[in-house]
Amino acid sequence: MDLHVTLGLLLVVSIAVNASGVSDYIPKIPQNISGNVTDTSFVLDLPNCIFNDFPSTNVWVVIALNQSFSVLNDSDFGTPVPYSAYINGSYTYYHTLLVSAGKYPCSNNDKVIKLIKIGSTSPSSCTESQFCNGELSNNQTYRVRFVLLDNIGVYDKTQWSEEIKLLKEKPFQGDAFWSSGRSGGMIVLTSILCVLLAILLVALIAALFTGSRDICWKRSMDMKSNITSKMDFMSRSTYRTHYDHMHLVS
Ligand SMILES: *[C@@H]1O[C@H](CO)[C@@H](O)[C@H](O)[C@H]1NC(C)=O
Ligand SMILES: *[C@@H]1O[C@H](CO)[C@@H](O)[C@H](O)[C@H]1NC(C)=O
Ligand SMILES: *[C@@H]1O[C@H](CO)[C@@H](O)[C@H](O)[C@H]1NC(C)=O
Repeated sequence: MDLHVTLGLLLVVSIAVNASGVSDYIPKIPQNISGNVTDTSFVLDLPNCIFNDFPSTNVWVVIALNQSFSVLNDSDFGTPVPYSAYINGSYTYYHTLLVSAGKYPCSNNDKVIKLIKIGSTSPSSCTESQFCNGELSNNQTYRVRFVLLDNIGVYDKTQWSEEIKLLKEKPFQGDAFWSSGRSGGMIVLTSILCVLLAILLVALIAALFTGSRDICWKRSMDMKSNITSKMDFMSRSTYRTHYDHMHLVS
């Protein structure tokens, strides 16, 4: 009985070893990590020990839009495409995170979680590095695979991952109301209010100079409405600035 169990385990282990070759490997998103997929990035499990037979071969991560991954072939993978060419729309895939295969860890320590984050660099920092690991486009679906290149071309490659659907950018509640068109409208409204206040002020000064009782009485009324409208205007303006700020931060 014990022997059977041992044989069974050996069989399972040997199948697992066979399936851990590069060409059988399917890149995977960790299930138990919060933030495994965001609106600009996703996290992958580091492939463990699949590259250690050829430590000096170059390993790239190739990220492709789901809509085009199936038409890509070895000649596409063999010529690294920079992130910038993907972002400007010239290519539907790109290469990033070049390392020699030996840099991928190979460890039996299951307690250490090894992850790789795709899309970790903000676009403004991407100008310095040609093969940038730049942010991905939100609400897009991607596939990813590891590709090994030598100086002839593709040496080996893993399978494609399953579809990886990024999150939609979280809608901000004030978005529609404070969209650029409205902001433009607010600026015009602000200008008109300022002009009206100026006219009112000029009218009041004129009234003071004329010295008429009627107009003086009117003046105190005007002062009141002037103050109210000014208060209203200020509170609105503060409100808006607050919203814009939150929008920028979010
Ligand atoms: C990300 O992790 C959550 C649990 O934290 C899991 O439910 C989800 O399936 C994972 N996403 C993917 C694409 O595997
Ligand atoms: C991903 O691509 C496959 C094959 O081209 C297609 O059948 C599938 O609908 C695509 N998925 C999404 C979410 O676009
Ligand atoms: C996200 O993509 C889906 C289909 O891929 C589309 O129907 C939806 O309108 C998109 N949402 C946004 C906010 O772009």
